[in-house]
Amino acid sequence: MKITVVGAGGNVGSAAALTIAQRDFANELVLVDIERKDGDKTFYPSKGRALDQWQTSPIHGFDTRVKGTVDYADTADSDICIITAGIPRKPGMSRDDLLSINANIVKTVTESLVKHSPNTIIIVVSNPLDVMTYVAWKASGLPAERVIGMAGILDTARYRAFLAEEMEVSPKDIQALILGGHGDTMVPLPRYTTVGGIPVTQLIEKDKLDAIIERTKVGGGELVGLMGTSAWFAPGAAAAQMAEAIALDQNRIFPCAAWLTGQFGINDLYVGVPVKLGKGGVKEIIEIELNADEKAMLDNSCSAVRTVFEDLERIQNS
Ligand code: LAC
Repeated sequence: MKITVVGAGGNVGSAAALTIAQRDFANELVLVDIERKDGDKTFYPSKGRALDQWQTSPIHGFDTRVKGTVDYADTADSDICIITAGIPRKPGMSRDDLLSINANIVKTVTESLVKHSPNTIIIVVSNPLDVMTYVAWKASGLPAERVIGMAGILDTARYRAFLAEEMEVSPKDIQALILGGHGDTMVPLPRYTTVGGIPVTQLIEKDKLDAIIERTKVGGGELVGLMGTSAWFAPGAAAAQMAEAIALDQNRIFPCAAWLTGQFGINDLYVGVPVKLGKGGVKEIIEIELNADEKAMLDNSCSAVRTVFEDLERIQNS
């Protein structure tokens, strides 16, 4: 099992890589990033992060051989590739600028990966997530079940962590589902949230649950507010969990951004839905029953994602 992480000189990519190494389910783990110049010096963050992580192997007790590179030839025959490359929004930069820059990065990275690993599975982490997953899918030429976006595991992890804190229970016992795009319109589903098998609505007051749902929707923004940059431990761990489910053919049921062709009444859109994840990627999209309110919220979230798609098309055609 060979896994490549692109953007691994950065925080999200290296957090994903370290989680993968620690879980010890891959033989080879390749960290890719571009070199960075500072004056007359050249730095190689992917090589540095890989060396640092490899040097934790005797302590953590893993065999996964971690290597860093700037050359995509070293990623050849990867079973799974995780794309975390992209830039965060900088002061003065419009949303269109960010969209266009990250779309170009994700497209170029995907083409370079698929050139050396034509049958790989791609997990996309770059933002705006749902649209970047589409960009990677288009650039890859791969079947849609092999190109998947990471958002739902992260968003549900935040939701579960908030619930665990409020209810003073183990986060391990909380099961939950969030649908929709990776943004403020995401749709946490209390009807599909349980604590040790007990519906959450029986265990927590409505106003407290509502507050947790609202906090979850802006969970990424809360971390940006605290750190001045976006989160990495939970996003990285979430991407690693997807890789593990695929690598070990676990048939895990996770919310992931998948390509919809009529499921939930939605056509031609990457958006977060429950999927069965195992060998080969998405084995099944699980169409759960939604009530009218839940469906309306999902449709609203899909509209928000579609707006970003349309913005990208407009920029690319202008
Ligand atoms: C977040 C970014 C990584 O939600 O998407 O923190």
